[in-house]
Amino acid sequence: MIEYEFDVPIPGEILPEDCWAKTAIKRLPLPAPLDFAAIFGRVAPLIVEVGCGNGRYTLQSALARPDFNHFASDLLPVVIRYATRRGNQRGLHNVRFAVRDAESIIGEYLGEGVASEIHLYHPQPYHDPRQAHRRLVTPRFLADVHRTLVPGGLFVIQTDNPDYWSYFTQVIPTYFDWHEQDEPWPDAPEGRSRREILARSRNLKIFRGFGTRRDDLDRGAAFAALQSLPAPSFRSRGPWCDLDVWEERQPPPR
Ligand SMILES: C[S@@+](CC[C@H](N)C(=O)[O-])C[C@H]1O[C@@H](n2cnc3c(N)ncnc32)[C@H](O)[C@@H]1O
Repeated sequence: MIEYEFDVPIPGEILPEDCWAKTAIKRLPLPAPLDFAAIFGRVAPLIVEVGCGNGRYTLQSALARPDFNHFASDLLPVVIRYATRRGNQRGLHNVRFAVRDAESIIGEYLGEGVASEIHLYHPQPYHDPRQAHRRLVTPRFLADVHRTLVPGGLFVIQTDNPDYWSYFTQVIPTYFDWHEQDEPWPDAPEGRSRREILARSRNLKIFRGFGTRRDDLDRGAAFAALQSLPAPSFRSRGPWCDLDVWEERQPPPR
């Protein structure tokens, strides 16, 4: 059976129950680097997604890349419940989902140089100035992403908020060889994530980018660079904010 969300198929199909997997990590241990070889029972390159929402991208990637391990997380238990159910029903033994904030996943649960790729789709822009301190993408976060990636590792990020995007373009090139991706990703022409599909249905522009880890920056230099970079203190107003407000009023994403 194929499931749809906004008329776009959710990747994969629901398999007979005897093929299901167990993709939930119900309790993360106290903050300390996770042992992914033990978690997956094999050594394989690791793809990480934070703020994964209902997990669309991770499901798609795990189906397309069975030889990679995938670890995805979000702050909200309800979205991880949907992601986990779908991962289980698709028999994705190469995926684990956990409930946790991205700051501690990247800053504490991932060891140095463990991830081949880190993905972040539509981080919450918190356009209300009283919430701006909750914005995820900060120099500190980027230095942690840099630390946890393997040499030459890939960081992928996108948003429909032009103000957040202009902040990304200001700070990300310090840590990554940065490229903008104007067209939809070829592997998901209708959108890699729920928010992308929703934003495109409202004719919002999607800003996509990716960067490979700057390996000429050692750990000391990466953390020293923090001091000279601005915080994400932009103000945001526009239809992209209206969509945030609309989303906040909806039942949790399925
Ligand atoms: C706009 S939604 C995008 C979800 C998904 N990535 C997508 O593109 O459809 C933002 C997501 O980030 C999560 N979130 C917000 N702050 C977070 C944080 N500090 N750590 C992890 N997830 C966070 C929210 O729970 C929500 O699922």
